[in-house]
Amino acid sequence: MPANKLKWIDRELESLQKQGLLTTIRSLSSAQGARLVINGRSMLNFCSNNYLGLANHPRLKAAAQQAIETWGVGPGAVRTIAGTMDLHLEMERRLAQFKGAEATISFQSGFAANLAAIPALVGKGDIIFSDALNHASIIDGCRLSRAGIKAYKHNDIDNLRRVIEASIPFEKALLVSDGVFSMDGDLAPLDKLAAVAEEYNLILMVDDAHGEGVVGRGGRGIVDHFGLHGRVDVEIGTLSKAFGVVGGYVAGKKTIVDWLRQRGRPFLFSSAVTPADVAACIAAIDLLEESTELVDRLWANGNYFKQGMRAAGFDIGRSETPITPVMLGDAALTQKFSQRLFEEGVFGTAIAFPTVPQGMARIRVMLSAAHLRADLDEGLAVFKKVGKELGVIQDKRRKI
Ligand SMILES: Cc1ncc(COP(=O)(O)O)c(C=O)c1O
Repeated sequence: MPANKLKWIDRELESLQKQGLLTTIRSLSSAQGARLVINGRSMLNFCSNNYLGLANHPRLKAAAQQAIETWGVGPGAVRTIAGTMDLHLEMERRLAQFKGAEATISFQSGFAANLAAIPALVGKGDIIFSDALNHASIIDGCRLSRAGIKAYKHNDIDNLRRVIEASIPFEKALLVSDGVFSMDGDLAPLDKLAAVAEEYNLILMVDDAHGEGVVGRGGRGIVDHFGLHGRVDVEIGTLSKAFGVVGGYVAGKKTIVDWLRQRGRPFLFSSAVTPADVAACIAAIDLLEESTELVDRLWANGNYFKQGMRAAGFDIGRSETPITPVMLGDAALTQKFSQRLFEEGVFGTAIAFPTVPQGMARIRVMLSAAHLRADLDEGLAVFKKVGKELGVIQDKRRKI
């Protein structure tokens, strides 16, 4: 009998299960929104990246439906062969205008945009200076490039300088950071990173996946937030979070965009995004350009919820945005907390190692413009109930 060559996978899965680290996937029976239907039950949604509530917005849905009628459902090819429709070019023009960048090029996802941009800009013999908490897609893009990777301590400019100094001499180097860090909700000090990049002649790249639609004027992103237009070479964007659809893009200098049309491998070797997705994204840009109402509501909701959580005694880390990490530390406690939230009708996923460092497990609450004040109050009440029950916060009545 031949040995089972896949037995090791069963062992690994079993081990993850025992450690409480096995990712369980919940299936939704409804569209995205403040509430979701899961297992036939209406749940308060604290998990989605649907920051502005656009994932089920009537204007985006109408644009997608109309695009299907005109353009069909599939792109038919990769962008460089026969997959570029007028719609793709229109979206790229509109995105560049919205972000205040010279040009943009779109990809199938934010992940693909990182995999396209980094290896096209640096390669063997070059160096990448990368924040220690950068997103997995940046890390994978860096690895794929075969450049030397030097991590610097999270948001620590002194440490970054030391790492750079220790790497001199180098010819070509890239400095890359998340703009808004997705697990903690804190911002990169992009103004300081820009100054360092200029001093050492580094290509500067920021991933704005959680910044666009959230920070900057009317959600124009992290570069706009710091007023750094023209000083950041490459911005990575995603259309799957605040924009509510799917897709990714690179915004930046025209030279870089022209280069990525030649050397961005997911652009050259993977089919284009569908016309319906692209039309929905254009409708999202329309909405963002027309009014700041949704972005303002997102921030009002974030501030209200965070204030309520702090007042209740929860540790919500170093968040500066509507991303609210409820820091619990222990992975098993976090799993249990998430399970209890679920039983109480609140969908808030546990995030543990390897997504965050060991001992830093948390429930990450993602707030949205779609939440009503009543939703936030309901969520706060459930968090307080479960927090007291599991000894995370004190029951103030009992203390008296
Ligand atoms: C910082 C960052 N970059 C890129 C991505 C990937 O974006 P997408 O979902 O569009 O592939 C994410 C998504 O979680 C992210 O947080």
